[in-house]
This record gives sequence, structure tokens and C-alpha cells, in this order.
Amino acid sequence: MFKDFQLIGEHPASIQVKDYIKRLILKGALQAGQKLPSTRELGGLLNVSRNTVIAAYADLEADGFVYVLKGKGSYVAALSGSVSQAAPSWQMDWTARLNGHARMAEQLDLMKHGIRADRGTISFTSIAPDEKLFDLDNVKRAFLDRMSVEGNVLLNYGYAKGYKPLMDYLLRYMDHKGVDLQGKDILITNGFTEGFDLVLSALSRPGGTVICENPTHHTALKNLKLHGFNITGIAMEQGGINLRKLEEALEQRAYDCGYFVPSYHNPTGMVMSPEKRLALMKLMKRYQVPIIEDGFNEELRYSGSHVSPLIAAAGPGNHVIYIGSFSKVLFPGLRVGWVLADRKLIYYLESIKRARTIHTSTLDQSILYQYLVNGNLEKYLKKAKTEYKRKYEWTLQCCEEHIPYTRLTGDGGLHLFVTFPDDFDSRELLEACQKQGVIFTPGDIFFTDGRGRNTMRIGFSRVSDEDIGRGIRIIGETAKQMIGSVGNGNGQHEDE
Ligand SMILES: Cc1ncc(COP(=O)(O)O)c(C=O)c1O
Repeated sequence: MFKDFQLIGEHPASIQVKDYIKRLILKGALQAGQKLPSTRELGGLLNVSRNTVIAAYADLEADGFVYVLKGKGSYVAALSGSVSQAAPSWQMDWTARLNGHARMAEQLDLMKHGIRADRGTISFTSIAPDEKLFDLDNVKRAFLDRMSVEGNVLLNYGYAKGYKPLMDYLLRYMDHKGVDLQGKDILITNGFTEGFDLVLSALSRPGGTVICENPTHHTALKNLKLHGFNITGIAMEQGGINLRKLEEALEQRAYDCGYFVPSYHNPTGMVMSPEKRLALMKLMKRYQVPIIEDGFNEELRYSGSHVSPLIAAAGPGNHVIYIGSFSKVLFPGLRVGWVLADRKLIYYLESIKRARTIHTSTLDQSILYQYLVNGNLEKYLKKAKTEYKRKYEWTLQCCEEHIPYTRLTGDGGLHLFVTFPDDFDSRELLEACQKQGVIFTPGDIFFTDGRGRNTMRIGFSRVSDEDIGRGIRIIGETAKQMIGSVGNGNGQHEDE
């Protein structure tokens, strides 16, 4: 006995010894009434100091695992609360008990069923920010600043609606985007994804219907499916959604809601033109369909003029639910997003949120708040946008030079979207490229109707310049071999 003990990491040694002895007692290796080795002896056996064992024994005694007989030593206590030996153990088949929701969530889980990257692979699959750009010192300062002001409060329970200073900051932020805040309210969520899930929870019903861009954000599609929505996807064209097709679809049936990503749409990277925004708003009003607007990427504009979010165009109207997130602009590890919408709707969403998660981490919210209020967003954005713009232009140049596309889209953000000729199979291309150490996201996962086999998304934010050049050349050459063409791409880059 005592031979398998090993000190690990920085965890205090006395706690490790205490946990080790406790485990031996709970597993029955040390029996009630058994005398424990003296502190000096155990120290020698475990290769720790005698003081470490003295502290461990004291803690074991305080927790009721050990009792001391004066002048005799420490003994294992009888565990009155332990039922582990008496209770019958059995194995059950959990998979047989799972409901359809759990099964569907697993089936749609791309982290489990998607492409795996071997070490050294050039991966264009991510559209997360480049962590090398993070201004850590300012984040640390924000944390310490806020902790020194109200650390005790931050570590206790907070409020379902959110951390008040952050809510107020974000309301002002949306006001500056031209949003009419009259009659509206805000709810802080764990990123866009939870906000979307909460909204869908409030709006879903058996046979629910949603209309959206096709292709669109994969996680949004996943959540819509998990909420049982029937999804109608409307094709994209230059400048955003095809309005004629949208109108045809709206004419045919009623929809519970529409989901749109007007700026730097994922995956096409398109920015919906102001004309289309206006026409979309008119159509949705005519057919009385509320809009869920995904504003995740708005700030990552490298060129062209500012375009207002749909909720700003709605004026005092209450039919747009705006979901914001700094996940691409700042730090996705701080799981903070927000829903800005009609006050009455937020009132109900707040209750759903409280029932589900109580509230978003106040620590995350307060760090973000202090970071923002210290004026860091503007400084960071300037730096990040310069770097992303440079990478965007380099990726664009590489794609134009090497990839035989029929359409290349992406007006900003962290990715480009490539369309090949109709009969091209990007899954086959992926397989061939993977063997050469390059991967990307096959576009079909973004489609609502199983199409898009001839498309792919190239995320460039976390790939080095050199790898962008090398990776895209490999993709391009492989694609050309598959197509049997030798020339450069003859398609057009849809730049607005
Ligand atoms: C379209 C879209 N919306 C929102 C998000 C951000 O989600 P979250 O805020 O939950 O990280 C992403 C991230 O990739 C996205 O692509």
C-alpha cells in the first residue's frame, strides 16, 4: 500500500495526501478502526515532509474520516454515511433512454462528426479571432480594475437580465448605431448562440416555420432544427438575399420568424445592400413576419460605407429582435452576447433565461464592461481590422490566383466563400487536400436544402500568411486537376 501515490502539479501537497488517504478509506483499502502509519512513517513512504502529513491528518480528522487516540495515533473512522459498499451496482443502457432531442444534437454535432485536423495541417476551418492579436494587458487591467471596485459582489449571484453597467453600456452602444430604444429592452446572454436559443424557445411551436438565407450560419440551422422549425432557405445573390424568391416564399405560406445575417454573412461574407435591407423590411412587414437579426460581425468592415443594422431601420417598430455578440470582434471566451428587442418580449426571455442558467457569468460581463468603458474596443478594433484586412486581401489575392472558382464572395469579416462549377464536389476536394495537409469547411453544411456540394468556406483569421499562400495553392491545384482545367479561375469576385 501507499506505493501508487504521486505528487502532481501545483496543488498543495497536504491536500493531495489528504485526498489520497480519503480515497483509500472510501474504497475500503483502509478499514474502520485500522491504525494509520505515524506521520513520520507516512511522510517517508509518500516522499513528502512530516508537516505535510500532519496537516493532511488534521484535515482528515476535521472531515470525520480519521479519529485520534491521544498518545496512540490516528485511526480510520467508521463511515456511517457511506453506502457505496452496501448498495447494489448496475449498468444501464443510457443510449436506449435518450430522447430524439439528444440524438439529433449528437447527429448535428460537427465537433464530433466533422473533419479532423492532424498536427501540422493547414486549417481554413476556423473563423475564430486570432488570439495573437488579443491585448491581454488591457483585459488584465479591466479584470483588476473591476475586482477592486466590487469583487465581492461580482462573485455572488447576479441578475438574469444581466450586469447593469454592461446593459447600460450596450444600450448606449446600440443607440449610437441609430437604434430607437423606445419600448425596447436588453437581455445579456452567453453569446449569440444562447440568445438565439432563448428566442427560439419563446417562439417555437409544433410545426413552426422559419425563413432565412440559404446558405446560412450552421449553428443557427442546428438550433432551428433542434427546436423543430421547418426551415425555408432563400438563395443568395450579389448584394444578399434574392428578394424575388423571398417574396415568392412569403406568398406561399405563413412564417413564425425570419433569421437574417445582414452584415458579413456566414458563410458567404456578403453585406446586404441598403436597398435590399429596405426591401426586405418592407416585405417582412407586408407579410407580418418578425425578424431575428444576427449582428455578430458588423464591426469587421474593411472597406465600403457603414450600413445600419435592420433594427435601426425599423425605427420605433418592435418587429426586429437584434442579437449581438463580440465573439468575432473581441474575445469569444468571454461568453457575452445580448438580445435587444421589444420590452415585453425581453420580459419573457428573462424568465426563460433565469429558469435555464440563472444568469450569464457576472465576472465575464464585468470584465467586458470595464474593458469597453476603458476605451479599449476602439483601439483594439483599429489594430485587429488592419491585420484582418491585410490577411483578407492576401487570401483574396491567393484565391484569385489559384482557385478555379465560378464565384468568390466575402466583403469583410474573417472568411471567404468559394463556389465551383455545379457538378464539382468540394467533399472530394477536401479529401484530396486533407491528404496533402490542408483542410477547409465544405459548404454543404451551411445549406438548408442539402445543396452546396460545390461550395467551400475559407476561414483565414488564424492561418499564417505563409500557410495561406501554400494552402490555397494546394486547394487550387487540386481543384484544377479535378476540373481538368489548367487556367486560372474565370469567375468574378463579388466585391461591393
Ligand atoms: C453568423 C454568426 N452569428 C454569431 C456568431 C457568434 O456566436 P457566439 O456569440 O455564440 O460565439 C457566429 C460565430 O461564428 C456566427 O458565424
